[in-house]
Amino acid sequence: MRSQATLTALALVSSVSAFWRMPCRSQTGVGRLDPIMDPGEISDHVHTFSGGGGFGFNADYGTLNATGSCTSCEVTQDHSAYWTPAMHFLYSNGTSVMVQQVGGMLVYYLYYLDHVKAFPAGFQMVAGNKNTRNFTGPFPDTDLSSWPTDPSDQFFLQQRALGFNCLNYGKDPEPSLYRHQFPTKDYMDANCQDGLRLELAFPSCGNGSSDSLDHKSHMKYPSLVKEGNCPEGYDTHHPFLFFETIWATNSFAGEDGQFVLSMGDPTGTGYHGDFIMGWESEQFLQNALDTCQNPSGNIQDCPLFNIQSDATAATCTFPVPDALANDDVKGPREGLAVGIPIQNGPQPATQYLVAGRSSVPTSSIPSTTASASFSLPTLSYTAANPSITSTAQGGIIIDKVSIASTSTSAASSSAAWSALNKVEYASSSSITEAPSATAPAPDIIATSYMTTGNQVVELVIEEVEVTVTATPSAAARHKRHAHKHAHHAGRR
Ligand SMILES: *[C@@H]1O[C@H](CO)[C@@H](O)[C@H](O)[C@H]1NC(C)=O
Ligand SMILES: *[C@@H]1O[C@H](CO)[C@@H](O)[C@H](O)[C@H]1NC(C)=O
Ligand SMILES: *[C@@H]1O[C@H](CO)[C@@H](O)[C@H](O)[C@H]1NC(C)=O
Ligand SMILES: *[C@@H]1O[C@H](CO)[C@@H](O)[C@H](O)[C@H]1NC(C)=O
Repeated sequence: MRSQATLTALALVSSVSAFWRMPCRSQTGVGRLDPIMDPGEISDHVHTFSGGGGFGFNADYGTLNATGSCTSCEVTQDHSAYWTPAMHFLYSNGTSVMVQQVGGMLVYYLYYLDHVKAFPAGFQMVAGNKNTRNFTGPFPDTDLSSWPTDPSDQFFLQQRALGFNCLNYGKDPEPSLYRHQFPTKDYMDANCQDGLRLELAFPSCGNGSSDSLDHKSHMKYPSLVKEGNCPEGYDTHHPFLFFETIWATNSFAGEDGQFVLSMGDPTGTGYHGDFIMGWESEQFLQNALDTCQNPSGNIQDCPLFNIQSDATAATCTFPVPDALANDDVKGPREGLAVGIPIQNGPQPATQYLVAGRSSVPTSSIPSTTASASFSLPTLSYTAANPSITSTAQGGIIIDKVSIASTSTSAASSSAAWSALNKVEYASSSSITEAPSATAPAPDIIATSYMTTGNQVVELVIEEVEVTVTATPSAAARHKRHAHKHAHHAGRR
């Protein structure tokens, strides 16, 4: 029989905000498209796309959800399109190359607000502003308790909805949304040995419309970006979408030049992203939001989701439109693709001519100067790595294996262990055996519950440091922190 104490504990658990983390490990494409901002025509900068394969200049719910279309995300019922600008490295001699995006995109669906309501078919939105070129606040952020409780300053919140996380898996991770512009190149060379993670928080307070003229003003941030008070009239609480992409900026350590977002932004403050709802139905997404509340955040723990392999997901791409066939976006090439000027700010960026648009002759596109002798830097990543560097919201880096779970009974210990294993080790190619561990005073990082017959067993998942003895690769010796706090976006 369940004891009163256990029932109380369960009730508490179910009130905790939940989340799930959608891996979209491969891109559907890269190029100058943006069917929200520039429907039907060439976009003024390059994006990288994940999600639905029914994509193109005129993508919308209908094309994404069309029969037979695919998705590059792991959940087959999600054909949503997710995109952000690409990151390039501009050598001081004017040659640019696209920085390698490592492991595609992670899209978090987090429920911070109450009564979370699914995005309807036809819903789309943009977060961030491509023309912003400054961050005006202090670094680091002042304590959240000092932020205005009134969310009327949306520019303040929008600036703080961007994160540039310096990755160094040998050190304690930075929290999510810790800094709101690119670190300097020197800082990155010295500290960000595993690259840079770009983070984008979308607004989650809606006014009931699926879109608006500027594709932004139907949505607003709550007072603390991810949670807090919604502005008046914005009482529809949507899931809090959070994009993470990792870029192998470390490949350019010691090189003379600068990182630039594709719209000519060397500051990072113009980072932005787009979302078109492409779930098979609003009702399906609502059911998923209501049902998939496992604190693990693992999509595998949601019984409604059909999961496809990353290999299958990777076959989902969209055809490059003819108008973009001659774009060399990855480089090496002269200048940014395609002929986009660098605008340093701090004043907002201004519009430039877009090569290939009806009024602009294609001859204004700078020639691509890929020289045969140019070789890309050797990358320290392999494609398999990102799946085990995925993070929980909160900037917690999950690096190579160094977690074990312990609990009060052998049965629950192994259950917790396999629950962790399921995701964390699933696509690891370098880990061949379970790690052996000695457990120094573990911290409890999560609890969860399992029903066995008529008994409810509490699983206490604790974090310990583990030395992997099976595979003595350098990467496997890294320390890892795994957090299972579903409801914390960390210590911001
Ligand atoms: C610019 O510098 C990079 C890095 O040294 C080099 O690979 C590239 O070939 C140079 N580009 C030109 C046009 O000389
Ligand atoms: C939501 O906001 C947009 C932009 O201000 C407006 O056009 C639209 O009418 C609003 N929708 C509702 C349902 O109030
Ligand atoms: C989206 O696609 C699904 C699966 O083919 C279909 O059942 C559903 O009716 C479509 N939704 C809309 C709104 O067209
Ligand atoms: C900072 O950016 C904002 C938004 O683009 C702009 O309104 C403001 O003028 C900029 N500040 C400066 C000093 O240029």
